[in-house]
Amino acid sequence: MNELIKRAAKDLAAAGNVVALTGAGISIESGIPPFRGKGGLWERFDPMEYAHIDALMRDPAKVWKVLVKEMKEIVDQAEPNDGHKGLAKLEARDKLKTIITQNVDGLHQAAGSTDVIEYHGTFAWQRCMDCGKKYENREVDLSEIPPRCNCGGILRPDAVFFGEMIPQDAMWRSRQAASDCDLMLVVGTSAVVQPAALMPVYAKESGAKVVEINPEKTPLTREISDYLIMGAGGDVMNRIILELELKTDNI
Ligand code: OAD
Repeated sequence: MNELIKRAAKDLAAAGNVVALTGAGISIESGIPPFRGKGGLWERFDPMEYAHIDALMRDPAKVWKVLVKEMKEIVDQAEPNDGHKGLAKLEARDKLKTIITQNVDGLHQAAGSTDVIEYHGTFAWQRCMDCGKKYENREVDLSEIPPRCNCGGILRPDAVFFGEMIPQDAMWRSRQAASDCDLMLVVGTSAVVQPAALMPVYAKESGAKVVEINPEKTPLTREISDYLIMGAGGDVMNRIILELELKTDNI
């Protein structure tokens, strides 16, 4: 792994426009379970029954009680880990431009990253299913589930459910960022959910290097990625940052 850390630090030092694509894996060290694999949410909940827009429309109370409430409680308590902080450090040193995240937990922003595209929306806001009014979490009374808007409509997280469109702005900004970058860091995503998993493909097609950080191989490995650094997001980010700091003071 040491050689790959050195290679990533060298590639980052040489790159002029770096973008990161992140997934649930980067937040595991913050105590948020991933979706797939061991301990993943989809092992316990059938996504078609709880995370599809049809399920939410059919029975919002059921989706709230089972999935949304639990996810929201976990997300509300979570703190950024070294993976989020490492990416924020790269941005603070003008090394990383934009993060495209599939996560709805807001932990990149909590770590200090300022240009974060929330590809699958956010759990930080709730939206009325009738009138569309948005509420910040702290304004929402959760003593009644599902919570209600002033108009009486049911509130839902301002996040993307299966079967829903990606928010237009997030979709186009991400595509642009992926096509413009010369290095994409892909951290903690299984890269099986489209269209998010296309971002590294756009980057590669535009001539960028694609560097994966993940303890497991993904469909991108070998096909799209230049190399995979096998390890946990926090540990790998710490080692890359250390290597960059050793190399030069002004990364
Ligand atoms: P997944 O749960 O599919 O994948 C998590 C990835 O994190 C896997 O590839 C793991 O190997 C990796 N991983 C595990 N531990 C890690 C660690 N400590 N550091 C870094 N990586 C680690 O999550 P996503 O790829 O984000 O969509 O899933 C994509 C989308 O599927 C989600 O945004 C969500 C879900 O259904 C919607 O809800 C619309």
